[in-house]
Amino acid sequence: MDNKKIKQTLVLIKPDALKNSLTGYVLSQLSEFHTGLRFAGTKIVNVSRMLAEEHYAEHRGKVFFPSLLDYIMGRIHYPDEPWKHRVIAIVYQGPDAIKKIRDIAGPTNPHIARDEKPGCIRALGTVVPLKDAEGNVIGERMDNLIHASATDSEAEREIKLWFKPNDIPPLMHAYPTEVSDAYYYHKDNKLYVTHEIGSTCFLVPGNVAWKSDLETLRLLQQGIPAPCSLQTVVVKYLINEKGETR
Ligand code: RTP
Ligand code: MG
Repeated sequence: MDNKKIKQTLVLIKPDALKNSLTGYVLSQLSEFHTGLRFAGTKIVNVSRMLAEEHYAEHRGKVFFPSLLDYIMGRIHYPDEPWKHRVIAIVYQGPDAIKKIRDIAGPTNPHIARDEKPGCIRALGTVVPLKDAEGNVIGERMDNLIHASATDSEAEREIKLWFKPNDIPPLMHAYPTEVSDAYYYHKDNKLYVTHEIGSTCFLVPGNVAWKSDLETLRLLQQGIPAPCSLQTVVVKYLINEKGETR
């Protein structure tokens, strides 16, 4: 089903919001009463490094990237409590979903959020200086409580990265799905269609997958460059799998 009329966005309630018991506040700000949006999917995710890297791929190479990964993985806010390393991932659906949630979230930088939009969610965030080994400030990390998709194409990429079709009720699917007619395995970031010792099977015939993921897998299997990497497709199947925690 391809339903272009369904508008969805991905929200992540980040570790700083969880640590400060702001989950209820965030959910209340984003409630249907305030936004007209409905839940389409939700899950508690222990964010692996692979998922963090994929989610924030656009920031790879920036000075704050390593710290951003540690932040979204929960390592900054719960350094000694790995069982608390998690975020709440939510798909919201409804008219103007992306804009409505970005408006309530506010500017990326919590200082600017407080100045320009007092009362927005990110006005409650913090900006943390980043230092090198000698203690010189080299940048900053913005702990801004929630992530919210910025555009339609980002929302599609992010929802498909964090959610499998069967995490979302079928009538709420915004993107086309397809039933897999093959087995797919991965091992050491390589794709296989038959079992290899040590490989993990992530799709079997009959499983419903995002159509774009199956298209990518078929191209990769033939050695043809695909629109996204194997890691991008596989990562959602590894969410909360034992051994994927860091
Ligand atoms: P988000 O993706 O988390 O909803 O935030 P955003 O669109 O408002 O901002 P984006 O540019 O996508 O940045 C993603 C996250 O990276 C951190 N950041 N730090 N130090 C910096 O200059 C900087 N820029 C971005 C923030 O945590 C931001 O939410
Ligand atoms: Mg962003």
